[in-house]
Amino acid sequence: MKKVRKAVFPVAGLGTRFLPATKAIPKEMLTVVDRPVIQYVVDEAREAGIEHLIFVTGRNKGVIEDYFDIQVELVGTLQERNKQKELDLLDSLQPRPGTASFTRQQAPLGLGHAVWCARDLVGGEPFALLLPDMIMQAERGCLARMVELYEQTGGNVISVEQCDPQSTEKYGIVGRGEDVGTGFHITGMVEKPKPAEAPSNFYISGRYILQPEIFSILETQEKGAGNEIQLTDGMLKLAASQEFYGYHFTGRTFDCGSKEGFIQANVAFALWRPDIRNRVFDDIGELLQTVEPAEQLAAQ
Ligand code: G1P
Repeated sequence: MKKVRKAVFPVAGLGTRFLPATKAIPKEMLTVVDRPVIQYVVDEAREAGIEHLIFVTGRNKGVIEDYFDIQVELVGTLQERNKQKELDLLDSLQPRPGTASFTRQQAPLGLGHAVWCARDLVGGEPFALLLPDMIMQAERGCLARMVELYEQTGGNVISVEQCDPQSTEKYGIVGRGEDVGTGFHITGMVEKPKPAEAPSNFYISGRYILQPEIFSILETQEKGAGNEIQLTDGMLKLAASQEFYGYHFTGRTFDCGSKEGFIQANVAFALWRPDIRNRVFDDIGELLQTVEPAEQLAAQ
């Protein structure tokens, strides 16, 4: 079985739900506590043993590439000022030379198309795919757990979680078959079904281990839900010839593509950090008791 060495991060999305901030900052660079959202997702990939990062970017996303490069002047200034702690932090997060690649999705045609744009960089080996809107909190990361399952099963592995049965139209939904190790056989998949048509309430939560055969399918994949080329539709076709397993992640997941999820992520990761936990805990308690909704905003 080939090791999963490469991870794809589709970061071309416009981030319209975070306007006006995203006029000038990619949504993946919005900060949760003190680091950008994308850093959490990259950390999860590295914890899982990923060696090469592949970013599918778009226009106005250049700052993501800058972020993963060495900032020579900053490093020089920190050295002059003997800021060793900060230098060590930057060094620990720095991808080594040649281990990060960038390619552009030239038109917003959907997730399936974004993944297809990475085909040459991935080549003919299994790869991980991490959707950076979703950040996850757990003692051991979701992708690391999926790699463990993958090493037992082979095939393709998708992270799943349970949603409110009325919310299936927001997600890709899988059908649940018999249990296998820490996961289960996936019996079907459908992108954004109406509740009555959903095969279960297990939704695809943004982490995948996929075989490279997905690329030739995506090459000719027609548009689906939302008039976009959907990865889920491509995976359903691949499921005709390869096994798919769901890994049921039970840590916390935050949808940083939504305002509420982004705020939750900030609170949860602040409370997770021993250096600031106590202050944040007290401050939130006080705010909950004193802040009322602003009347002029409520009227809008
Ligand atoms: C994408 C996937 C969907 C998945 C979701 C998770 O949808 O197409 O299957 O459930 O991410 O966030 P999007 O959120 O891009 O509409």
